[in-house]
Parts: sequence; C-alpha cells; structure tokens
Amino acid sequence: MADLRVTGSPGTRFQGRLRVPGDKSITHRVLMLGAIAQGVTRVQDFLDGGDCQATMGALAELGVPVERQGTAALAVHSVGQTGFRAPTLPLNCGNSGTTMRLLAGLLAGQPFDSVLDGSVQLRRRPMSRVTEPLRTMGARIQTVDGRAPLRVAGSRLTGTRHRLAVPSAQVKSALLLAGLFADGETVVQEPVPSRDHTERMLRAMGAPLTGDTGAWHVRRLDRPLRPLELRVPGDPSSAAFPWALAAASGGRVRVEGVGVNPGRTGFLQALEAMGARVQVLGGTERAGEPVADVEVTGGGLRGVTLGGARIVAMIDELPVLAVVATQAEGETVVQDAGELRVKESDRIDALVAELTRLGAAIEARPDGFVVRGPCRLRGAMVDSRGDHRLAMALAVAGALADGETIIGKGDCFADSYPGFDGAMRESGVRGLSVERYGR
Ligand code: S3P
Repeated sequence: MADLRVTGSPGTRFQGRLRVPGDKSITHRVLMLGAIAQGVTRVQDFLDGGDCQATMGALAELGVPVERQGTAALAVHSVGQTGFRAPTLPLNCGNSGTTMRLLAGLLAGQPFDSVLDGSVQLRRRPMSRVTEPLRTMGARIQTVDGRAPLRVAGSRLTGTRHRLAVPSAQVKSALLLAGLFADGETVVQEPVPSRDHTERMLRAMGAPLTGDTGAWHVRRLDRPLRPLELRVPGDPSSAAFPWALAAASGGRVRVEGVGVNPGRTGFLQALEAMGARVQVLGGTERAGEPVADVEVTGGGLRGVTLGGARIVAMIDELPVLAVVATQAEGETVVQDAGELRVKESDRIDALVAELTRLGAAIEARPDGFVVRGPCRLRGAMVDSRGDHRLAMALAVAGALADGETIIGKGDCFADSYPGFDGAMRESGVRGLSVERYGR
C-alpha cells in the first residue's frame, strides 16, 4: 500500500465541479440482486472499488458471470433463484463488511455450504449482529467468537420477526435477503431507519416486499425478480470530501449526479446546521433512488451538537465532519455514534489520534468526539490505518493545513473512491494537491 502526500494550501477557497464514482451500497446490492433476478441486469457507472470488487469476486466463485463492458458498465448474468454453484473456495470479502454481512443473508438458505472470509481488518469486525438473528430463522453459521471466518451450512429457513438492537442497513439487508429464501414471512424492525437501498431496489425489481420504515415484511420469492437497467447514482459518501473542502474553506463545490436518498443526506444537513449553504439542483429518480446535483458553499461555520436518529444518516461521513469542525467557531459535539468504533478502524480513537497530530483540538468520548474550533492545522505524518474514509478525511485536513502531510497507507481510498487522488487534482477542485508518495 502506498502513502499519500498532500500539499496544504490554507487560505485557499476550494472551488470546483465534479462527479464522483457510483454509490458503494447500491453497487453491492445491484450485483447481488442481479445475480438472482431473471435475465441480464445492466449496470452503468458502478463503483469499481475494492469493496465492490470483493462482491464481484465472491459472485464469480458462486458461478455468476459478471461481464465488464468497458470501464464503466457491466452486465450481471443471472443464475436465477436456485442457480448458485457451491463454492469450492472460501469467499474472499476483502475489507468489505457489506459483502460479508449481505452474503451471509443470501447464502444462509442455500442448499450448500460456504465460508465467508476476508482481510485481517474485516476479521476484527463484529458479525454476531447478523449471525444471531439469522440463527433464529434456522441458519447454521459458525463464527470465531462472533467474528469471521463465517462457516455457513446451507439450511431450510423459516421467516421470523426481528427487532434490531442497532440500526444497521447491512443487518437489515441480510435478513431481507434471507427472507427471500425462507418459508413464511420475515419481518424486520429497526430502532431508527437506516439507509433503505435494499428495500427500494427490491421494490423496483418486483419482490414480495411490503411495509415501511416501521417494519419491513418480505416473503419467499414466488416469481423471479425483474432485472434492472441502472445507472448508479454518485456516492454521497464520496462527495462528502469535496463538499467538506468547500464548506471548511469558504469555497464552493458542485457534485453532479449524486444520490440524495434521505437515508444518506445527514452530512449535508449537518453542514447546513453549521452555516454552509446547500443547494440541491435538478433532480431525477433511478430505480427508485433520488439523484441531483448538489452545491455546497462554505464559510462562517459554527459548531453544532449532533446526535440521535440523524447520526445514522451520516455515519460514514463523521470522520470528515470532524475535519470540517476544526474550521468552525466553537464546539462541535458528536454523540450516539458508538458504531464508529466497529468500522474499518476504531474511527473515534483513530480520528482523535491523527487529527491531534495535525494540530486539531479534538477529544474522544465513548460514543463520539468533541472538536473545539477553529484550529490552525499543521502538516504532519499521519496514519490512515488502512481505513479508506479516514485516509480521505486526513487528505482534506492536509489540504487545509500549513505545509505537507504524509498519510501512511493513504491509497486505501480505492476501497470506496478509486481515483480520489487524480479526481482531486483534475476535477477543478482547485488548490488541492494529493499524490502517491514513496513505496
Ligand atoms: C452500509 C451500511 C452502513 C455503512 C456502510 C455501508 C450498507 O453500515 O456504514 O459503509 O451498504 O448497508 P452498518 O450497516 O454497519 O451501519
């Protein structure tokens, strides 16, 4: 893995207009659901990043032909509801929690055994949140103390009612996917609604899904899912980095064709609450997903307190929100975000350690952090810990800092935003220089 070098340009008002790669969550789902739909699912602007490549690799091992058509399009050739091939190798989920948790749901009710494994980083993350509720449906899954590798023994499943303890779209989706292969009805209730991409896509494909954010009900597939033709919306979690640059520097950045699903717009709402201007321009729908151009104009930010239900809609953006908070006047408090501790790294401890090196006044709390701004950031050597969102948040911080910042293992950004370095250089987000460094 290579490091990144960011040349700071404090005082620059970042300006620009760009597109970001396709949504990661939606790409995983269209690959998996396309695999069991009827015929060919055609996908444009999919995310060709490490996490989604892990899903493609696992599907290939399950006998699903995923054909690349040029750089931005692919065709998923369905094997139908009963056509998966029993894998002969463990399915390698890489660093991708979404791949592992959703596949656990999809495979629990198949008539064959499979093993789900991944990187050292993924082996540290909790999996019992998905294996425990699947067991109540009759799934037989062995873990190593609640962690990967997962050994899934194919079983006959029966639908049950689940009340999730943590709001998690991955767990909800795993249960809904398992429900497509279970007898009777599977019901999923969440304490707070999480992103609903699975539900929207299942509806667009004609699945037997009813209900709403209060409770989702799904039944065994009685007829094949309809294939989709989908142009994947830009990922708002990737757009968060250029938006953050604009907000923190008093600049203006427009991201075109980005997803604005309400389950994902918490970061934009937080920026507005801090005093940035957010304009949503145009707007259309693709397979039930709202898409628009979104322009953020920054400057004059003040600290805010963020907690409760709205944290779920910005969980992946909290690292870069901490960076924005270093440029806001007063205190920014993030609470109810204990889930940050079980992401690709312990994002609370990692953020606090690395932003402190850059000169930020940030303090950890058990379920979040507090930033006291404004802080004058100074370039330093920092460590991404192989966590893509931390790497990119640190790149944004480096751009706002005096001097040079070297981000150890910074090129892990390719898990979710391949080309982040080049995009920042070439997109017209003027003033930001990110390049690979050493090794
Ligand atoms: C995701 C759900 C979220 C999010 C992750 C992607 C998904 O995780 O953090 O990046 O695609 O369903 P949780 O389900 O653990 O909250």
